[in-house]
Amino acid sequence: MLSTHPAGVQSGRQFLPKVTDASPNQELLPLTARINSSDRLEIGGCDVTTLVEQFGSPLYILDEDTLRNACCQYREAFKKYYPGESQVLYASKAWSCLAVCAIASQEGLGIDVVSGGELYTALQAGVSPDKLYLHGNNKSLEELKLAINSGCTIVVDNWHELRTLGHWSSVIGNSDTNDPVRIMLRLTPGIECHTHEYIRTGHLDSKFGFDPNQLDEVFAFVSQHSALNCVGLHAHIGSQIFEQQPHQDLAGVMVQWLDKASSYGLQMQELNVGGGLGIRYTEADDPPSIEAWVKGVCTAIQNACVTQQIALPKLLCEPGRSLIGSACVTAYTVGSSKTVPGIRTYIAIDGGMSDNPRPITYQSVYRAVVANKMSAPATQTVTIAGKHCESGDILIKEATLPPSEPGDILVVLATGAYNYSMASNYNRLARPAAVVVKAGEANVILRRETYQDLMRQDCLPARLSSET
Ligand code: LLP
Repeated sequence: MLSTHPAGVQSGRQFLPKVTDASPNQELLPLTARINSSDRLEIGGCDVTTLVEQFGSPLYILDEDTLRNACCQYREAFKKYYPGESQVLYASKAWSCLAVCAIASQEGLGIDVVSGGELYTALQAGVSPDKLYLHGNNKSLEELKLAINSGCTIVVDNWHELRTLGHWSSVIGNSDTNDPVRIMLRLTPGIECHTHEYIRTGHLDSKFGFDPNQLDEVFAFVSQHSALNCVGLHAHIGSQIFEQQPHQDLAGVMVQWLDKASSYGLQMQELNVGGGLGIRYTEADDPPSIEAWVKGVCTAIQNACVTQQIALPKLLCEPGRSLIGSACVTAYTVGSSKTVPGIRTYIAIDGGMSDNPRPITYQSVYRAVVANKMSAPATQTVTIAGKHCESGDILIKEATLPPSEPGDILVVLATGAYNYSMASNYNRLARPAAVVVKAGEANVILRRETYQDLMRQDCLPARLSSET
């Protein structure tokens, strides 16, 4: 039997009622999180501790309702605030796999892919090519050909790619239809925002996109290549952004570029303002809601179009983190511990930087709870250590938790974005399984790797074999 209160997080206790009606990106927990009568955390109607018994540890647990809710909030907000056509794309770099692409696609989203592998995954998930956009600052010829042959839109990043496409599109065109190749142009808007420098992309000193100073040359080139159908412009200013102003400034700048394109006879109808809306990883994070973000962008685009006196373009955006980040948690099993007197207590779990490389890469801060004792008072501050041979393999430097013991299930929150997709096999750890939960049912969406999986690319030349 479920307790009457939904789960939320507050200091002192592990869980108290959460904010209601908030946007998923403003929640620490998946929307369906509850504490059940056994005092355990439940997500999507499934007891997390039981899921670990069933599917093993560590385990990524994706809440389908939260992901669908976030997709729906983006979709509906565009309907509400933008009178023109719009399309939300899921930035699948956040987590690319068949099930996630299928859910996003069922919710009416298109998919932003950034490699042949992500493109192949989205195609295999049944996503319609006219809703697929291929990004990347150094796409291979093979990736470009796959994109052209599958009929998706290519977001051209630089001169090398533009010239290559100018050549190839006239040679191979779109294999079935012979239509011109559908492209967009990515530009670097020169807009600064406050986020980690590794995940900032809109400032001029960025490896991505054309410099706006090159616009005239780029537009002239595109207008002379009839095998290229340039449908619009793209920019992305960075990730985990809480301020609204940079995206609104971006909207204004992009509409000016669109206007300029028309002076080259280019009839571009699409503007893609990228992704970047942040999420709440800890109580200290305070991102705007999905609806507020969409409203801000839509208003800015409409105002800029009035100023430039141009028709409303089809408006696209491509969020990743704010769609899937808070829909997933990672469950680990607590193992050893070590107290350094007067300094700290380390609690070790059975995963670490290989399943979540964000703390060691970006010094990201996460929140955790002990899933099998949800009402226990959080009286200890401990350091959650991973199991890798690396001192920096610390998942949470200061976690406030109830006293825990080996076998407890530690759950790290908001691990849906850039966790599985950035996971590695460092120290030959097998990647964990992932399950999707909904209405009390759990299904595997990514199988746990085995030792055989870890060896699948290994080759032992005969001369190195001990039998020769
Ligand atoms: N569009 C483009 C062109 C992007 O480069 C990105 C993210 C997105 C959309 C989606 O951004 P989002 O809505 O998820 O913020 N690994 C880093 C994040 C890298 C983001 C890369 N680009 C992290 O774990 O924080």
